[in-house]
Amino acid sequence: MTSSPVPANLDSAVVDRAIESRRSIRAFLDTPVSRETVVDILRVASRAPSGTNIQPWRVYVLTGESKEQLADKISAAHNHPDAATLYVEEYAYYPRTWVTPYIERRRKVGWDLYGLLGITKTDKPAMHHQHGRNYRFFDAPVGIMFVIDRVLERGSWLDYGMFLQNVMIAARARGLDTCPQAAFTPFHRIIAEHLKLPDDQMLVCGMSLGYADPDKIENSLVTVREPVEHFTTFLE
Ligand SMILES: Cc1cc2nc3c(=O)[nH]c(=O)nc-3n(C[C@H](O)[C@H](O)[C@H](O)COP(=O)(O)O)c2cc1C
Repeated sequence: MTSSPVPANLDSAVVDRAIESRRSIRAFLDTPVSRETVVDILRVASRAPSGTNIQPWRVYVLTGESKEQLADKISAAHNHPDAATLYVEEYAYYPRTWVTPYIERRRKVGWDLYGLLGITKTDKPAMHHQHGRNYRFFDAPVGIMFVIDRVLERGSWLDYGMFLQNVMIAARARGLDTCPQAAFTPFHRIIAEHLKLPDDQMLVCGMSLGYADPDKIENSLVTVREPVEHFTTFLE
C-alpha cells in the first residue's frame, strides 16, 4: 500500500524514464511472467483515480492453454474470408470519418511499422499476416482483456484509460513491456464467450504483456509526438 503522508516529491528522472521508455512492443520473448508480478502490476495500477472512486476496471489475465485457445479462435475468425462483415466492433474506438491531422498521423505510424518490416503498400497478404500477430498477443506469455460494465458512462472510460496507462508504466518499472490492443474489439463475441462474460459487461481492449524481443525489427519503431506548443494554449 501507498505510504502516508504523501512524499513531497518523487524522483522525476525515474518517473519520466518509466513513462518515456514505454513503447508499444510487437514481438515478445517466451520468458514467462509470474502471476505475482502480474498481480503486483495490477495492484499498483489500481491506484488510478476514478470519479467517486468507482474503479470501473475488470481484468482477465490469460496465460498458457487459455491464452492459446483464445488466440486460435480469434486467428481463425480473422482469417475467415468474410471477417470484415462478420466481425464488427461493439463500440467505435476510431473516428468514423478520418480528418486532418489524425489521418496523417495514423498513416505515418502504419507505414513506418510496415516499412521496418519490409511490407509494401500493395502486399495485402503480408499486412493481413502482420495484423494477425495481434491475435497471438505478439507471442507474449500474458494476454490481458479489459472489461467494463455496460451501465457505466463515458467518464468511466476516461478513468479506465488512466488505469491502462498505469498498467503499462508499472510494467516498465519491472522491465516488462506491453502493447495495448484495440484490434481485439471486433472479436468481442468470441472473447465474451471465452471469458464467460455476463451480458452486462463488454470488452474495452486487450493488451500483450511480457519481455520485449530486442532482436525483432518491429520493436525498433519509435513514434513521434507533436511539440507541446502545438497542442497547448497558454492564456495569461
Ligand atoms: C487503446 C489503444 C489501442 C491500441 N491498439 C493497438 C492494436 O490493436 N495493435 C497495435 O499494434 N497497436 C495498438 N495500439 C498502439 C498504438 O499504435 C501506439 O500507442 C501508437 O502508435 C504510439 O506508439 P507507442 O505506443 O509506441 O508510443 C493501441 C494503443 C492504444 C492506446
